[in-house]
Order: sequence, then C-alpha cells, then structure tokens
Amino acid sequence: MSDDALIAIKPSIASTAKVTAETRAAMVARAKSDPDGFWRDEAKRIAWMKAPTKIKNTSFTGDVSIKWFEDGELNASVSCLDRHLEAGRGNQVAIIWEGDDPNSDSKVTYAELHEQVCRIANAMRALGVKKGDRVCIYLPMIVEAAVAMLACARIGAVHSIVFGGFSPDSLSSRIQDSECKILLTADEGRRGGRKVPLKVNADEALKVCPSIEHVLVVRNTGADVAMQAGRDIWWHEAAAAQPATCAPERMNAEDPLFILYTSGSTGKPKGVLHTTGGYMVWASFTHELVFDYRPGEIYWCTADVGWVTGHTYIVYGPLANGATTLMFEGVPNYPDFGRMWQVVDKHQVNIFYTAPTAIRALMREGEGPVKKHSRKSLRVMGSVGEPINPEAWLWYYRVVGEERCPIVDTWWQTETGGILISPLPGAVAQKPGSATLPLPGVQPALVDGEGKFLEGATEGNLVITDSWPGQMRTVYGDHPRFIQTYFSTFPGLYFTGDGARRDEDGYYWITGRVDDVINVAGHRMGTAEVESALVAHPKVAEAAVVGMPHELKGQGIYCYVTLNAGEEPSDALKKELVAWVRKEIGPIATPDAIQWAPGLPKTRSGKIMRRILRKIAANETDQLGDTSTLADPAVVTDLVENRVQ
Ligand code: WTA
Repeated sequence: MSDDALIAIKPSIASTAKVTAETRAAMVARAKSDPDGFWRDEAKRIAWMKAPTKIKNTSFTGDVSIKWFEDGELNASVSCLDRHLEAGRGNQVAIIWEGDDPNSDSKVTYAELHEQVCRIANAMRALGVKKGDRVCIYLPMIVEAAVAMLACARIGAVHSIVFGGFSPDSLSSRIQDSECKILLTADEGRRGGRKVPLKVNADEALKVCPSIEHVLVVRNTGADVAMQAGRDIWWHEAAAAQPATCAPERMNAEDPLFILYTSGSTGKPKGVLHTTGGYMVWASFTHELVFDYRPGEIYWCTADVGWVTGHTYIVYGPLANGATTLMFEGVPNYPDFGRMWQVVDKHQVNIFYTAPTAIRALMREGEGPVKKHSRKSLRVMGSVGEPINPEAWLWYYRVVGEERCPIVDTWWQTETGGILISPLPGAVAQKPGSATLPLPGVQPALVDGEGKFLEGATEGNLVITDSWPGQMRTVYGDHPRFIQTYFSTFPGLYFTGDGARRDEDGYYWITGRVDDVINVAGHRMGTAEVESALVAHPKVAEAAVVGMPHELKGQGIYCYVTLNAGEEPSDALKKELVAWVRKEIGPIATPDAIQWAPGLPKTRSGKIMRRILRKIAANETDQLGDTSTLADPAVVTDLVENRVQ
C-alpha cells in the first residue's frame, strides 16, 4: 500500500456519529470565524457554578497570557461526579478496575466514587490542605489514584502526579519544586507479577522534602511498611473517619487544576500547569469527538495516570462525559501476550486506546494471541505517544480490529492538555501513519528554520498559531521559562518541538522531535537529564546522550561516556552506569547502549555536535555531513569504529 492510501470513513460509523464530515467542516469554520460563540457553546458540556461570559483572552506575544472562560466558576469534580448523580446515573459503573493478576478486578459506580472522593477530600482538609496547596500523588494504577485526583480537585488543591516508575530522586525533586504539602502513596504497586516499593521509595525521597507534612498510605499489597508516627496515616483509616459528602470548593476557571512534570531539551523537568475551565472543556470535547464516544460504552485507555494521557483520557475526559472508564494495573505481556484482548472480551470494551510501542511488541508475537480472543465488542481504536509506523498501524487495523474499527492516531503533548491532531471516526478518512487533520479550533502550521510559514505539501517545524482551551498556562513558578521554551523560537507562535510533513490532502505526518527530547516507549525524556545523571557518577568526566532507532521502543537511549583520567573502561563499569541511571531517574531511563568515548565531537567553541552523534548511533555513518568545523575531526573516526552494534 502506498504511503498516502486512504482508508475510507466507515458508513456504519458515519451514519450514527455525532460528528460527520459535514458537521466537522461547519465546526472548523465556526471555531475560526467566531471562536467566542463556538467555545461558549462547547463550554456547556461541563457543569459551571457560574457560567462564563468572557470566553477567549489569549496572547502569544510579549508576556504570553492565556485565559479562557476567565469569569466562570466551577469545580472539576462536580462535572465528573455530582452531576451524573443528579441525572440519576449514580448506579452506573464509573471505573472498572482490572488488576495485574487476571483474577482480580472490581467495579466502582459513580455514587461510590463520589463517596470515596468526598471522604478523602475531607481527610485532606482535616490535615490542613487548602485551596491552592500542592499535593503530590505517587500511586499505582488503582482506583485510589483517580480518587486522589478528584479529591484534590474537590478542595481546590493542585495535584502533581509522579509516575510510579520514577526513582526517589525524581520524586523528591518534583515535590521540592512545587513545595507539596502532603503525599498520597501506597505500600506497594504491582506490575507484570512484580512489586514496586512505593512507600520505601517515598520514605527515601521525603528525607529531603521538608514541605511534606503528612503522607496518606493506601494499603494495596499488604506489605509490611514503616509508618512514621505523626506523619504517616493509613488511607482507609483517614477515609473511614470522615463524612461521605464534601462541599466542593468554588474555583475560578483559571485556578490551577494540576501540575505535571515533563522533560524538555534543557535543564530539569518543567512543571506544566493546567487550569480548570479550559482543560475540562478540552478533555470532554476531545474525548467525545475523537473516540466518537456514545453513552453506555466501555472505554479503555491503557496509559498510566502518571502521564498526561492518564489524566485526560482515563480520568477527566471520560468521567466528565459519564463514561465507564477501565483502569488497568498490569502490562500487555502478563501473564501472556493475549492479556489486552482477554481484558477487552472480559469487560466488553468498545473503545481501546494504547501506544505504538505496545502494538509493536504484540505484533512481534504474531496473530495467535490476538485470535484466541473475540474482540467483537471493539468499535474504535486509538494510538498515542509517538509516531506509529504504517506497518504497526496496518497490523492494528487488520489483525486486531479486523478492518472494522477506525484507528485514531492522536497527536498531542502534556502541554496541549488533550488531543490536537487526529482523525474523527465518522468524519475523517484515515491514512496509516498519519495523525491526519487538526480538531476544530486547532490551527497548526509548518514553518522553516527562520519561522517563515510553509504552504501546501511540505515539511517543517510544527507550530500552533492560536490558543485552544486546553493549552498549558505556564511553567509552575517560572513564567519566563514558559515563554522561552514555547514562544521564543518562533515569536508569536506556540512551538511544539516536533517536526511534521503535510501532504497534498493537508494531512499531517508527525516525524518526531526536532529538539533534544527523545521518546522511549512512549515516555518522553530529555537527553540532558540522562547526561546529568551520568556525569554525577564519580568516574564519569563527560557524557552525551542521543536517541537511536529501536524496533520496539521507537527510540532507545544511546550514551557516549568519557571517563575521568585513570579510569579503565570495562563491561562491569557499563553495568554499573546502567544501574546508576536507573537509580537516579528510574527504570524508564535505562540506557540501551553505552559507548566509551575518549573524546566527543565538539566545535571550536566547545559545543557538542549532536547531529553527528545521532548519525553514529543510528548507524548512518555515511551521512555524517560536514565535520570540518570540529575542533578535532579524528574523534569522529574513533567513535565510528567503536560504535555499539
Ligand atoms: C510525541 C503524550 C507522533 C510527540 C500525549 C510529542 C506523537 C510528544 C504522537 C509528547 C502521535 C505524541 N504521533 N508523535 N500520535 N503523540 N507524540 O508530553 O513527539 O508525553 O511532542 O504527551 O510525544 O509527549 P507527552
């Protein structure tokens, strides 16, 4: 099949979809010509205590100020809970929880979820947490993670979730940056038959976190963990001591809802800040449109709540829309490679949303594990996190979805709050490997290195020319960094950090990051973070880290390491460095290759030429380009000869 082959809109979907090609075109036109009117209407999809009269007030220049619905008042937890109870849907299942162990699962109705949220919200208030305080969440994929988020929202506390796969160091630096007041964690997590020592990690992290006054601990595996008197409290005891209702805090639309740390090309991770009104509208709008979600459907996003995908598409989007959302504690290959499809059949999942890295891993095992399960309930399938190669796309489409289910390849970022570019199942024909067209209200463009707009079929840097409600508002505690990172490369435009191609049909094909961010199994990582972890090792003088092509993970982590004078390279030291990086950042940052580099290719002014290092890592040594500006071109010869196979 040629690259640009179209896969038509399914008539069966188009005939019943909320958005068709015609209605989409009308939405796109109105969002452009009358953004205030369009978004005033769309804002009605969430519950307001005071409906907004001011809609859009945004500027990408100067101080960069982004405000949506700025005089509106609401509480995000009310949109996700109370109003469904008021509508008589209290007994509908809100969350299906599927454990790591295939024999463990549970169901929580909207009424039950409301009660759990209120109890924990009250417990946090009793511990002195007030509107605007930051709360760190370091929990596994259990129902309590969603409860924790919504309980924070209930009392106006700003949650900051740290993925359970991060190390104590990564946890403490995030807690310190936003000065969180309490931490919500568990004794242990479970993943693929193994235990994750969350409380032990938390205790280690909290040695250097004076802002934390209390820790609420979920008894999850029942492991024997140390509880520090006066500081640590069992979650179930705190909940039981509180009433089952809790008055929601009245929040302004622009009050913060959460902070989520994400990697950039420089420095330590940034606290991406999202506010309440615009984010909730965006979460609900995109979840309904992109997945063509219909009331009563079972929806499953396989992400972890530690990432933005889990925030928007496991918790806030689906719950705002009154969906039944499935939370999965496990991994795709445990106990075997059929697990995903076994879960789909068990819970009759209609909408399934996962990452290309998972699809590639399953594809490698062949069709057998897929065919063992029926998958008849599936209707729409999504992909997110990294470019999906056409081969994986087609396998997903043909083998998993049996050419019945449209594939939505959704492009977005932590910063964007929700999906920006994606097909809509009833409105946009698909092309394998393309995220296709922007959603109504999203205005992407491609620019060259100088910021000049490129027209027609072309390739360039992906920017967004105007604001959308779900956009991040600032970097927590560092607005200048927000402006510098996103609005200075191409003044007046939001720069995504991604490159993209646009074809004759106006379809976007994301080609990947154009900065020093790499995407490892859908996890975003700054090469600078791995470098600083490496140079923190006493034997390392210098390090340069780049992405390399990796069959399953999309990108792997390739490290060039220069040792201190007198240190001997050895395989044992390689192993030690791998373990060191895992300990410093977390297992997701495990280096895939370490190459000893007597020297790094530098310009005469001392700048490392990463372009060359990327080519060597990718084994494209015939394309090194111009090396004449290097201080010492001989360095390159050595690196090429000794590249890690
Ligand atoms: C990449 C995850 C191609 C992209 C939601 C982006 C994608 C980064 C896609 C954001 C996609 C995400 N096609 N690339 N469908 N989705 N990306 O912040 O490079 O963890 O900039 O958000 O992932 O990663 P983040």
